[in-house]
Amino acid sequence: MKPVYIVANWKSNKIEKDALLWLDDVIELSTIDLSEKTIILAPSFTLLPFLRKEIDQRKLPISLCSQNVSPFAQGPYTGEVCAQQVKDFAHYVLIGHSERRTSFAEGQELLVSKVKRSQEEGLNVIFCVQDQNTIVPEGVKLIAYEPTFAIGTGITDTPDNADSVAKIIAQKESRLVLYGGSVTAQTVNAFTQKENISGVLVGGASLQGKEFVEIIKNA
Ligand code: PGA
Repeated sequence: MKPVYIVANWKSNKIEKDALLWLDDVIELSTIDLSEKTIILAPSFTLLPFLRKEIDQRKLPISLCSQNVSPFAQGPYTGEVCAQQVKDFAHYVLIGHSERRTSFAEGQELLVSKVKRSQEEGLNVIFCVQDQNTIVPEGVKLIAYEPTFAIGTGITDTPDNADSVAKIIAQKESRLVLYGGSVTAQTVNAFTQKENISGVLVGGASLQGKEFVEIIKNA
């Protein structure tokens, strides 16, 4: 069996009480067989310390990921959260999500700086691309292919097309490619069974803990 990454991207949702309900709903994860499956949760910065503590206490097999990171090291950058701060709580960082590229005008130069700072601190970068032509910064091993038409629309890419794009992206530097865009418990397996797809990045369908557990089981 190939390794499969299943990443929950909560985006700008949830406060502590919602996170607690979600954790109750995924408690089953500590008992099911997850060999080859890596479960990653990307909550807002505000929830990272809280979730770190709760996940450790419950011994849940979930790694944490930040949804963003500063392009700078520690210093006078009001409002920024830097990689050194993130790594206290998380092992992964999402960089280049299309919502950041579009709503926050994040361009390639800025994204490269974010990747570099994260790599310097030993964080694992999950770099999001919208197609096979997006430039991936050096040394990035985990890439999420997320076509914009599929994000939050309920319309996925076809598994065949996603697999072809993933194949092109994966060719270099032994990269692993995830698919993201309207993945649900019903559609996940059509993607993860493809040769070149090593997992999924799930937004909307990850917000309900029970649905997320089904996604993990079906992946
Ligand atoms: P979606 O979001 O699953 O709600 O389409 C995916 C993403 O933006 O990472």
